[in-house]
Amino acid sequence: DVKELWQIGLPMFINVVMSVVAFFTTMKLIPKFKNTFIKAHLFGIDMNKRTSEKIPESLGVLSGCIFLITLFLFIPVPFGSRFFNGEIPHDEFVELLSALLSICCMTLLGFADDVLDLRWRHKLFLPTIASLPLLMVYYVNFNSTTIIVPKPLREWLGLTVNLGILYYIFMGLLAIFCTNAINILAGINGLEVGQSLVISSSLIIFNIIELSGNQWKAHRFSLFFLVPYTATSLALFWYNWYPSLVFVGDTFCYYSGMTFAVVGILGHFSKTTLLFFIPQIFNFLYSIPQLFHLVPCPRHRLPKLDSKLDKLNISTTTFKYNDLSFLGKLIVNIFRIFRIIKWQEKDGYVITNNFTLINLVLLITGPMHEARLTIFLLIIQIICTVMAFIIRYPLAYIFYDI
Ligand code: UD1
Ligand code: MG
Repeated sequence: DVKELWQIGLPMFINVVMSVVAFFTTMKLIPKFKNTFIKAHLFGIDMNKRTSEKIPESLGVLSGCIFLITLFLFIPVPFGSRFFNGEIPHDEFVELLSALLSICCMTLLGFADDVLDLRWRHKLFLPTIASLPLLMVYYVNFNSTTIIVPKPLREWLGLTVNLGILYYIFMGLLAIFCTNAINILAGINGLEVGQSLVISSSLIIFNIIELSGNQWKAHRFSLFFLVPYTATSLALFWYNWYPSLVFVGDTFCYYSGMTFAVVGILGHFSKTTLLFFIPQIFNFLYSIPQLFHLVPCPRHRLPKLDSKLDKLNISTTTFKYNDLSFLGKLIVNIFRIFRIIKWQEKDGYVITNNFTLINLVLLITGPMHEARLTIFLLIIQIICTVMAFIIRYPLAYIFYDI
């Protein structure tokens, strides 16, 4: 009825209005803060441009702060008058606060990474710690670690399986994956924010579809976060698009990943969240030999500018085949069989492309202009979202009774 619709819809409406304000605030503040960041030595050189001017870096901290401030101001809204007459639903309240705590932590850690250039092992360790409050709340509020078994496997496993501690490990790994996956699919103007916007929009569409189901509360909870997230990121995208006036920094990549992990975990759709990360999963798997140093990994793997053509080409890494470990040799040979790397031998050295999705695309298409390359990769991301929806809806009917 009308009263109920009002109670459900009003907080969402206020959230959208606040997000619009957040968008314009971010649009206005980024140009104002550009010089402050450069003065604080927070800048990078755009490696794919002919000029080498200083581009302010980690402006993600600004959009992140406005995102967090919007949510802080929003805290009393979903609880309405109950907030003031003492009938606060404590479980929902603690979910909101712990989600904010995890995102806040990740913003701080991302900024620390931008300033201090942390080591790889810290990058794995930090999101694990930042997701602990979240997992604790999950434990206290739901502690549901039972999953429904897909139909073909039921003969052996039964209708449901309780994963117990394994489910917590999965959620912890999800937080580590989401935070790092966006950061390593990066290096060309607009890609970090662009892919995050595609993911957040996909999650928003998914949440809206699910609002009519009986889990609507969890999906509305997720929207409370994703709408202001998308608004502030859109403003950042405006300035980060080719040619970038600002760089987003690891701050942005980290808090974005954490936001997606948070809504997935507390909204009980962590497996669906992962479905929207298909290009990132591919990029991660493809990167493994370099991430674990089975093949030498240069500090930057972004594509290289061919200044004559004004197009980007693959970047490469060089090594001696015999210096690779057994596992390294095995993996590069598998990659060669599947023809997903460029392989060139010269004076006893091997030259291959760096193992990133961006380089793989360039390998297939040939050199491309930077802006076109970003658009190309974003289209791949959108196609994967469509695939994710097909897996989540029509295909899921085959494997589950829904
Ligand atoms: C990750 C990648 C690295 C990639 C880098 C680019 C891994 C393991 N690490 O490192 O290969 O080179 O991101 O962001 O895959 N930059 C540009 N144009 C852009 C964006 C960034 O030239 O559009 C350059 C700028 O010099 C900027 C720097 O990249 O200062 C930022 O790199 P940073 O985010 O510190 O690199 P990582 O996240 O450590
Ligand atoms: Mg980065």
